[in-house]
Amino acid sequence: MPVVVSMLNSYSGWAAAALGFTLENNALIITGSLVGSSGAILSYIMCKAMNRSFISVILGGFGGETAAAAAGGGPAKPVKIGSADDCAFIMKNASKVIIVPGYGMAVAQAQHALKEMGEKLKAEGVEVTYAIHPVAGRMPGHMNVLLAEAEIPYSDLVDMGEINGEMPQCDVCLVLGANDVVNPAARFDKASPIFGMPIIDADKARMCLAIKRSMNPGFAGIENELYTADRTYMLFGDAKAVLTDLVKQLSGSSSGH
Ligand code: TAP
Repeated sequence: MPVVVSMLNSYSGWAAAALGFTLENNALIITGSLVGSSGAILSYIMCKAMNRSFISVILGGFGGETAAAAAGGGPAKPVKIGSADDCAFIMKNASKVIIVPGYGMAVAQAQHALKEMGEKLKAEGVEVTYAIHPVAGRMPGHMNVLLAEAEIPYSDLVDMGEINGEMPQCDVCLVLGANDVVNPAARFDKASPIFGMPIIDADKARMCLAIKRSMNPGFAGIENELYTADRTYMLFGDAKAVLTDLVKQLSGSSSGH
């Protein structure tokens, strides 16, 4: 939907530019061209980040049958459930923690609690970075905006392309309300609607902790085998509530280093 909105916005710019030519109005031509080209560039960037062609975004659905299947069943594989105190202990004693925020963080407005938790971990000597996927959330730059609002230093934010190389050396990858952007099916499942979309390789970290409310799918409506992987522990609950709990656990504990 945002791609469609952005494209329509672009068309309105080109229409204004065309009107400018008709009326011989330079201001209209210039402003129309700026709106038209910026909308087209934004649409192109969003399509590229989702690895989908513009035509398939406009004409195709997302999720469809797979979404229905996911909604009806839920994964057959068992999941490992972690507790806040265990997860706080594990992160506190890690050298490197990578946090992957997603749409769920935005819904829960958990960015301030996240900053607090990041600060607590840093105080314990843990290296904390935030992995940013270009289409995490529901609008371009969604995660950047929320993390900036919480005054998380921009230098702690790392782009997907760069962070993936660090994943195998990462002790804990904390997936916070993200789903599609960490779904390994994008790499291998040709039938998946997100096949080919670049993802953040959370499954390659030594351990993954995932915070979400249930096993429900994300935007694409598909299951995510990251949550049933051997190295993944689920922390079920609202992102803000779970982070607040983690902060409390980290506050009450002494340094493990
Ligand atoms: P999603 O795949 O949509 O997953 C978000 C997850 O957050 C859900 O699985 C949901 O699980 C969880 N969640 C929701 N509310 C929560 C809460 N209060 N606390 C904790 N967890 C919560 O998000 P993503 O990984 O960020 O991926 C974005 C998706 O949106 C991609 O498919 C992308 O293509 C699409 N998209 C992006 C954009 C742009 S431009 N960013 C535009 C349109 C579409 P529970 O319900 O179990 O909690």
